Amino acid sequence: MDRRNFLRVVGATGALVAISPSTISGRLYASTGLYESYERVQLIDAQGSPIKLTDLKKETNYVFNYPYVATPTILLDLEDTTAKDVRLKSEYGEEYIWKGGVGEGRTVVAYSAICSHQLAHPTPDDSFLQYVQKDKKTMACDHGGVMVCSSHLSSFEAKEGCKNISGPASEPLASIVLEIADDDTIYAVGVLGPDKFHEYFKAFKPEFKKYYEGRRKAKKKVKTSATMVELSQYTKEIIQY
Ligand code: FES
Repeated sequence: MDRRNFLRVVGATGALVAISPSTISGRLYASTGLYESYERVQLIDAQGSPIKLTDLKKETNYVFNYPYVATPTILLDLEDTTAKDVRLKSEYGEEYIWKGGVGEGRTVVAYSAICSHQLAHPTPDDSFLQYVQKDKKTMACDHGGVMVCSSHLSSFEAKEGCKNISGPASEPLASIVLEIADDDTIYAVGVLGPDKFHEYFKAFKPEFKKYYEGRRKAKKKVKTSATMVELSQYTKEIIQY
């Protein structure tokens, strides 16, 4: 049996409800609008082998595309234990609870790598958005351990559900909900928080043509497995200020 990452979300009455992602009903989803389950997808390496938690290097940006063929996610083993039950808010005031990281030390997290400000994201050519290690500072933030978008210098607290902490971004990055199987393999199962997929698919038509043979293919849901590589392999240039 999988060790599921249970969530608490705000129900229709405003009360917090503890639930498993897989049991969220359509009614509850409709009342919050902030959790959606997608295909249960196993993370594999470039050779096609399942990736285990123990394979992850600490504080290293890993990228896989989920839940759609063209929507990047950044996965991290932060090394330090993450916060628990963080109350977060979309720019429209919708609340949700980010339960914390997965794995034994609750150190592993995943976030949709589409900036909540103006949708900067990693592409095969460059990336303005990435995690910055704890011992580094950037123009966007006076401490590390954060996701930074160097497009307009927003930062997001990686151990607290990627809540927005500086810059023009007015809401967190959406979280990708992970499940860890008994053999320590990793699955993505859904998206929690204010995702930007709708705006993203409207905004980058030429890019989808360049990398994915058009928007129709870019918008297909990832099924069964997703290849995860380090950001430095995913993109040619990492841009950080
Ligand atoms: S697009 Fe990320 S800060 Fe503007």
